[in-house]
Amino acid sequence: MQIIRDVKSLPAALAGLSRDFGTIALVPTMGALHAGHMALVKEAKRHADAVVVSIFVNPTQFGPNEDLANYPRQEAADIALLEAEGVALAWIPDVASIYPDGFDTMIRVGALADRWDGAARPGHFDGVATVVTKLINRIGPKVALFGEKDWQQLAVIRRTVADLDMAVTIIGVPTERAEDGLALSSRNAYLSDAERAAAPVLHHAIQQAARAISDGAGVADALETARAAILSGGFKSIDYVALVDADSLEPLTRFAAPARMIAAARIGTTRLIDNIAVG
Ligand code: PAF
Repeated sequence: MQIIRDVKSLPAALAGLSRDFGTIALVPTMGALHAGHMALVKEAKRHADAVVVSIFVNPTQFGPNEDLANYPRQEAADIALLEAEGVALAWIPDVASIYPDGFDTMIRVGALADRWDGAARPGHFDGVATVVTKLINRIGPKVALFGEKDWQQLAVIRRTVADLDMAVTIIGVPTERAEDGLALSSRNAYLSDAERAAAPVLHHAIQQAARAISDGAGVADALETARAAILSGGFKSIDYVALVDADSLEPLTRFAAPARMIAAARIGTTRLIDNIAVG
């Protein structure tokens, strides 16, 4: 596996990959890789001849009081995982390579990015849309893959790529879960043993609400039951639990397919998100 850290040597390395293998798939990550990321890599191999993974903890998608400084970093372990999975190239740029002196342009997605996580984390999706566009522009992949765990992020990236006429296909990959249902996330590393034991209640609560709604229960009642279960199960606060249109992310007060149940809540100092299909 080639490891590239700058921007200058990328074009020659990418030309080599295209010549020797053919098409390229990009899996953008912030490192601290787990089975969820490796599922993206495995899926990427089905769509292109060579896989490029970027590892970049993107400062523009973190708010001033968020966990940028503490975000888990484990580069050696990440590289070993990618090598074992047959990744062709890992691109690990530093902040100055992505945001050099004088950088002054951000991409702002509209309504889709303003609600839910966008409301709880102002500016977050501007940072995501901007960095993903820059990563795609540098790598020039045929496809780029993202986890469905960040459902709103996936929708925002699809919107960005469509609106900016970017010649790349975005592929969403289903969420990988621990055996007890907790969605895999690099931020699970922040959880204490007691928080980790309690955390699956988030998934179970939205799963139960989704089932109830599919069986005909009222949306408001099902969401209220889910909120109560999350809070009594050990979460400190809830940012949102909602039934939304799967594409527009508009809230639904009655079930209508395609729908998604989305949730974000805080346990201790950690904010976890999850979502599932409904119906
Ligand atoms: O999902 C992530 O890990 C990040 O938001 C992404 C897409 C790599 C952009 O920094």
